[in-house]
Amino acid sequence: MFRCTQCSELVEVVYPEWTGAPAGFALRLKEIWQERRGSPLPENASGVWRFRELLPQVERGNIVTMGEGNTPLIQLKKAARSLKLPNLFAKHQGMNPTGSFKDTGISAAISMAKAEGFSWVCCASTGNTSASVAAYAARAEMQSMVLLPAGQVAAGKLAQALEYDAHVLQLRTDFDGCLRVLDEVVRRFPAYLMNSLNPYRLEGQKTVAFELMEQLDWKVPDHVIVPGGNLANGSALGKGFMELRELGLIKNLPRISIIQAAGANPLVRTMRENNGEELVRVNAETRATAIRIGNPASWRKAVSVLKNTSGACEEVSENEIAQAKAELGAEGIGCEPASAATLAGLKKLASAGFVTSAETVVLVLTGHMLKDVDYMKQAPGQSLLGPMEPDSDTVIKTLEQIYARH
Ligand code: F0G
Repeated sequence: MFRCTQCSELVEVVYPEWTGAPAGFALRLKEIWQERRGSPLPENASGVWRFRELLPQVERGNIVTMGEGNTPLIQLKKAARSLKLPNLFAKHQGMNPTGSFKDTGISAAISMAKAEGFSWVCCASTGNTSASVAAYAARAEMQSMVLLPAGQVAAGKLAQALEYDAHVLQLRTDFDGCLRVLDEVVRRFPAYLMNSLNPYRLEGQKTVAFELMEQLDWKVPDHVIVPGGNLANGSALGKGFMELRELGLIKNLPRISIIQAAGANPLVRTMRENNGEELVRVNAETRATAIRIGNPASWRKAVSVLKNTSGACEEVSENEIAQAKAELGAEGIGCEPASAATLAGLKKLASAGFVTSAETVVLVLTGHMLKDVDYMKQAPGQSLLGPMEPDSDTVIKTLEQIYARH
């Protein structure tokens, strides 16, 4: 049960003990976190548990980790030039153990499941959560059960869930339908719910803010941009930054903006039509299947992050996503379509003057390119040549034509 029994809103983890912490507590944390980087202990090497002072307390023996987090912050060059934003970075969360940002949250939630004595975990998913839950459950020697929208999950993600031995049930519905069914199933079957309704998921996911601040040498970026689906990621990122500010480790917050696919834009519509008061549900449709969600669970938390950080909520078309993905790929950075929505959104925000050239901007790339290779088949500007005759004359002739064009 992760909803309040009175108002049925999602619950949230809070840390009242921080208020009474001795002066210098927070500053000392920075040093402790830094020292742990060189440690061989799994709970120190993890990019989540390294920050455990700011997480729910879990006994060492119950921590389930695969060294999640610890993802690179990569400075973008081509996109920076074309957008005239010299300080543009990508935080590549696709470099996590199962290839998406989900691992940081799943490590936290599965450790709680272990501490609570569960032997089954479950989730509904557009793919990445199921891959992550399956892998971490296998590591924890638990059973996992995942509900997937039949025919709507990218092949790489489905392959992962199967490889990691999940019980995979495909339902004839979309993600929203799967989550609705799961909500009923967990009341009647003793499996621990791993979707982001589970507040511990957000605790793991918020550590991306801490890691990012270390990588930027504690200079707060002006703007962080995430894609939005079920809206937990933006919520977690905002929570992380707000906690750092509460602890006095940073003075100001970045703007956090959330980008949705135009065909799966409930948050955009909610902000536009009633300023975030009441969720506008939609029938979601997008080729960025990770974010094909019309009834997002964490919408209220996301609205409050947008308002608290003065961020924007923007939608991007299928073509804009494909174009942005190709551009990132052309500078050696592979990500899945949902992740590329961030660059597509940034272009819109920059042309509207919402982002200006002196600003430091971080795009959170949520998933690895290999998750969804089928998407490439319809991508623009790809150059797969042949089949052709296997002789050097043919190859040289082809290369000369290409060379002349560049
Ligand atoms: N990007 C990727 C690659 C995702 O897999 C997801 C969500 C998001 C962005 C959106 O994050 O839901 O926190 O707003 N994937 C979920 C899943 C729904 O089941 O894997 P969000």
